[in-house]
Amino acid sequence: MSNSFPKYHVPVLSEELVDSLSVKPKGKYIDCTLGEAGHTQAILESTKPAPTILGIDLDLDAISSSIKSLDSYSKNVTLVNDNFGNLKAIAAKNGFSSVDGVFFDLGLSSLQLEKQGRGFSFRSDDYLDMRFDKNQDFTAWDVINTYHEKDISRIVANYGEESKPDRIAKAIVRNRPIDTTLQLSTVVIKALKRPWNKIHPATRTFQAIRMEVNGEMENLESALCQSQEVLSPGGRLAVISYHSLEDRLVKNFLTQKHREGDTLRIINKKVIKPSDTEIRLNRRSRSARMRVAERI
Ligand SMILES: C[S@@+](CC[C@H](N)C(=O)[O-])C[C@H]1O[C@@H](n2cnc3c(N)ncnc32)[C@H](O)[C@@H]1O
Repeated sequence: MSNSFPKYHVPVLSEELVDSLSVKPKGKYIDCTLGEAGHTQAILESTKPAPTILGIDLDLDAISSSIKSLDSYSKNVTLVNDNFGNLKAIAAKNGFSSVDGVFFDLGLSSLQLEKQGRGFSFRSDDYLDMRFDKNQDFTAWDVINTYHEKDISRIVANYGEESKPDRIAKAIVRNRPIDTTLQLSTVVIKALKRPWNKIHPATRTFQAIRMEVNGEMENLESALCQSQEVLSPGGRLAVISYHSLEDRLVKNFLTQKHREGDTLRIINKKVIKPSDTEIRLNRRSRSARMRVAERI
């Protein structure tokens, strides 16, 4: 049954995810990045009787929105506001210690990007926040206003893959205090002096700061390791990433496990990408890459 609850987020590679997980009737799945529950809903609708899903999100807004949109499946879903870095413990606590599939759809949702006040976007003028978890004390303001210049440069280079990180870091330090997203994007635009056509000059810097604030690479690495322990034999792991650094981490992890030959076997030798049609309909999908493995 399709739900008409209004959503900001269009799920990416949804059909491919459902296929890759080989969803089983009454199977058990963990959605580590629930967001607006687009993928969870697609999986619930893909088979009868519907599977059961444990949905995890660090952002309480995502949980609240999903409770409403998944109302008709309330018996099939358990929603938990937590960090997927605690995957094993969350799974154990909720009776999902041995499951048929675990999946991740990394990054941030359109709900987070478009809702005012979250500080993720340079398109609105908000306090420099960027936290997925609103209970966390550490914000983007702290990174921008308290980090050493060389650390800002390193983050912008590593997580943003920005070609002029030193210039940006220097400009940030020179213009402190920087309190808002608009101030930060203005500083970056001036520092880069880059002609601005399709991609906003501050895109990479904002992405880098967000990844630092939320410890995204560390959480992903830890959760991937834990996912092997909650998958039952034949269970599938699928990861959709939007950033080459994340995709590399996933690829290296899966390749290593595949070579070791005792926990995970890579299913798709070639990374799965969105079709031209999907990219045309949802531009956000253009950088998506999905990798899938099976528990041995
Ligand atoms: C791209 S969105 C997922 C969208 C979702 N697949 C859908 O179809 O609606 C990513 C979500 O992951 C959540 N997230 C990011 N890091 C997380 C973490 N460490 N633990 C739990 N949730 C996290 C974000 O809050 C965001 O809601």
